[in-house]
Amino acid sequence: MGVLDELPRLGIGISTSLSVGRPDFRGLLREHPRLVQFVEFAVEHRDADLLPERLAAELAAGVRFIAHPIELSLDPDARPSAGELAALRRIVGVLGSPWTPEDIGTWVWNGEHLGGGFIPCALTRDTLAVAVDRVRAVQDATGVPFLVENPPFAEVSGQMRLGSFFSELCARAETGMLLDVGHLLSYRLARPRDTGLLDELPLDRVVEVHLAGGAWIETADGPVFWDDHGGEIVPETRALLAQLWPRLPRVRALCFECELRPDDRVVAELAALHTLYPLPAA
Ligand SMILES: [Fe+2]
Repeated sequence: MGVLDELPRLGIGISTSLSVGRPDFRGLLREHPRLVQFVEFAVEHRDADLLPERLAAELAAGVRFIAHPIELSLDPDARPSAGELAALRRIVGVLGSPWTPEDIGTWVWNGEHLGGGFIPCALTRDTLAVAVDRVRAVQDATGVPFLVENPPFAEVSGQMRLGSFFSELCARAETGMLLDVGHLLSYRLARPRDTGLLDELPLDRVVEVHLAGGAWIETADGPVFWDDHGGEIVPETRALLAQLWPRLPRVRALCFECELRPDDRVVAELAALHTLYPLPAA
């Protein structure tokens, strides 16, 4: 795990994209530089030409960024093109991103970007093999680790358990994991009988953590947790993070995914997170 041990510690930060206007990440960086230690940008390949100019001031000021691609699918028929991988490499270089994370799933279907409606990976050995191949290809193209993020689940398809799927994926692709706590909560609800989940996940390979607000949705099959980023962080997510945090020896970044949240709520949440989970940047 030498590669993971060499990654920088970014601290606590927030997520946004070029198309999101709230919170005002520039204002937060200006007024609360100690609270916002990095910004994670959701990026599309076409952003490669826009980012240098749009983020020129922040890059010149030394703001640290993570590039979070949102178009890399696991479909065997939709392998990223050489041009797309080259664009991602440029983005990683421009932002100085020490790694790239993405949920493992299908983001583009028949040429359509699915956005928040993307399809989580099926937990099967076939999907796992494709994911290993795809993660390795992206890492070869960008030159930085690709952190595999556990996706949100309303229901789970496939016979593998989430923990064994991600343990094997990390080991075979020789990389680390981004643990999304709200997504993990949604999996627990969808697969309540997977009682060994926390012991089976590769917690020693978790480099980054995502924390976000969400909402409970009642369905005919019971409640589903929807990690929509826009609501308050629910108590169940907070409790799960508190339980997991002492078991993450390699964590380098805690990202509050807060698109569409008002600035004052983001500031209050970040202040609380810094108190609960000290993670000095280095
Ligand atoms: Fe996430």
